[in-house]
Amino acid sequence: MKQAEDHDGSSAQGRKTRLTEFRVRPYRASDLDALHQLDQICFLPGVSYSRAEIARYLRRPDAKSWVVEATGEPAGETAGFVIVSCGRRQQGHIITLDVAPSWRRRAVGSMLMDTAEKWIAQHGGTAVFLETAEDNLTAQAFYLRRGYARLGRIEDYYGRGEAAWLMGKRLGE
Ligand SMILES: CC(C)(COP(=O)(O)OP(=O)(O)OC[C@H]1O[C@@H](n2cnc3c(N)ncnc32)[C@H](O)[C@@H]1OP(=O)(O)O)[C@@H](O)C(=O)NCCC(=O)NCCS
Repeated sequence: MKQAEDHDGSSAQGRKTRLTEFRVRPYRASDLDALHQLDQICFLPGVSYSRAEIARYLRRPDAKSWVVEATGEPAGETAGFVIVSCGRRQQGHIITLDVAPSWRRRAVGSMLMDTAEKWIAQHGGTAVFLETAEDNLTAQAFYLRRGYARLGRIEDYYGRGEAAWLMGKRLGE
């Protein structure tokens, strides 16, 4: 996974109306542009995925993606998405997890990870892994809270000198 753009999703300016509700639904082909735009916002240039890269991940037969949509006011806005894979080795991998800055700390990321982990378990996966930039303390706090552990440091993971943490957790514990 990638190194994140530095947004403070908890700022007062970024707060949306409390009337908003969310729904998680599977990815649809018409989401691609919105997902690409959100990834550009969430991650630094050169680290965020191109439209073609996102499309390639979404076409993988072992991958699945869900989108969280705001269903209140404003309706239909893409609040976040996740792309996950679960291959033959029965290990899930979080390819990317993106929540729009103005929708953070509203449990959108948690909803997406709950859905992804459930799908991995249903596909026989016994563990989930991901990589997150060493300086992405927000993501590390989020994953630690979900029971993930830092498993190892990967030097120069992004090819620009920055290290990443491999994080993971066993499912069903
Ligand atoms: C990391 C990310 C996905 C979290 O999404 P989110 O919808 O804001 O997360 P949630 O609201 O579900 O947070 C669940 C818990 O995680 C922890 N957490 C989330 N953001 C946090 C932050 N900025 N600081 C400390 N803890 C945080 C908290 O324990 C939080 O519970 P609380 O709000 O009740 O305190 C989001 O910040 C994001 O998209 N960041 C940019 C992209 C990125 O880094 N993706 C992951 C790359 S590996």
